[in-house]
Amino acid sequence: MNVLVTGGAGYIGSHTCVELLESGHDVVVVDNLCNSNAKSLERVEALTGKSVKFYQGDVRDEALLRRIFAENEISSVIHFAGLKAVGESVAQPWRYYDNNLNSTLVLTKVMTDVGVKSIIFSSSATVYSGDNEMPLRETSRTGGCTNPYGWTKYMTEQILSGMAHADPAWSVVLLRYFNPIGAHESGMIGEDPRGVPNNLMPYITQVAVGRREKLSVFGNDYDTPDGTGVRDYIHVVDLAKGHVAAVKYAAEHTGCEVFNLGTGVGYSVLDMVRTFQEVNGVPIPYRIVDRRPGDLPVCYADPGKSAEKLGWKAEKNLRDMCRDSWNWQSRNPMGYGE
Ligand code: NAD
Ligand code: UD1
Repeated sequence: MNVLVTGGAGYIGSHTCVELLESGHDVVVVDNLCNSNAKSLERVEALTGKSVKFYQGDVRDEALLRRIFAENEISSVIHFAGLKAVGESVAQPWRYYDNNLNSTLVLTKVMTDVGVKSIIFSSSATVYSGDNEMPLRETSRTGGCTNPYGWTKYMTEQILSGMAHADPAWSVVLLRYFNPIGAHESGMIGEDPRGVPNNLMPYITQVAVGRREKLSVFGNDYDTPDGTGVRDYIHVVDLAKGHVAAVKYAAEHTGCEVFNLGTGVGYSVLDMVRTFQEVNGVPIPYRIVDRRPGDLPVCYADPGKSAEKLGWKAEKNLRDMCRDSWNWQSRNPMGYGE
């Protein structure tokens, strides 16, 4: 199949391009590079020995999208393009709603016009409301988001499921990611956040490589085994493979289906620090600071539905994730920037 990957130069997108190409698909990418570097796609090509057709531009640009669909026979779209920094979304809500919602509206308008009605969307565990029991199932309560970023994911799910409901020709797959970390085992592609990382693993790797002095652990008084927050970390290559499974699923089904992409296992912040140090032999100095507002104590998936219906299961463990995160960062201390 020829798959259009929006946001394909980004962290998860670039890993998904590799897995799509290695499964025999062709890949067309549209990305405006607002949070990525075109080098990631050059490395995808070097890694796979296959070419990626790249359009640099914005998914909200309707004329560009019409040109992409006219020039390529696209069968399915994976829609990664979006802004994803929670704190920034609180400071700049309009920018987040504009980028994340209008990109989806323009994309699906053009898809409808050209008759391509298969879309896989990057949603997030953040759409689940904070009052659920663990593990989170696809039927757990959603809503009550605590920031504009989360609301854009929630609203995009509403938009896409509404479209599938109104027109039975659509195939919509909503993938709720838990906490993607790690990198391709080659160390050629990986996560390259701009500025100070918000998320735990990129912060740890930047401490390890000497770009940051110390990790701040946000709270050690949660009701968890060691008091620090517990999350379901998933290797980005496993996550990418989940998208290949979703493309197949979308080709064989219509309607709207939601899937968790997680491992079902939760690890604490201190588990992460310990395992990273042990696997890589690099010290991670840290200090305990106050809780981060909006954080949940514990969050992990029930990945059973994905195993049953997508035939997909995460295979890599925490040691793999820590090893591969460090392999990427140590080979590319400044990310793609050097
Ligand atoms: P990323 O920032 O590395 O990738 C997103 C890509 O989209 C970037 O390359 C960026 O340049 C591009 N982009 C953004 N807006 C665009 C636009 N209007 N037009 C064209 N390109 C645009 O982020 P990622 O971690 O790879 O995340 C991919 C998707 O998965 C995002 O939608 C994100 O919200 C979602 N998600 C990520 C996580 C995570 O922890 N990384 C968790 C849950 C969901
Ligand atoms: C965050 C976002 C969530 C988003 C997800 C994936 C918030 C409130 N939530 O979730 O919306 O979908 O990223 O991108 O921002 N931690 C530290 N020190 C750090 C960084 C993190 O102790 O410097 C802790 C956190 O408190 C948490 C765990 O590490 O317990 C994981 O944090 P993070 O990687 O930011 O992911 P989430 O909080 O799950």
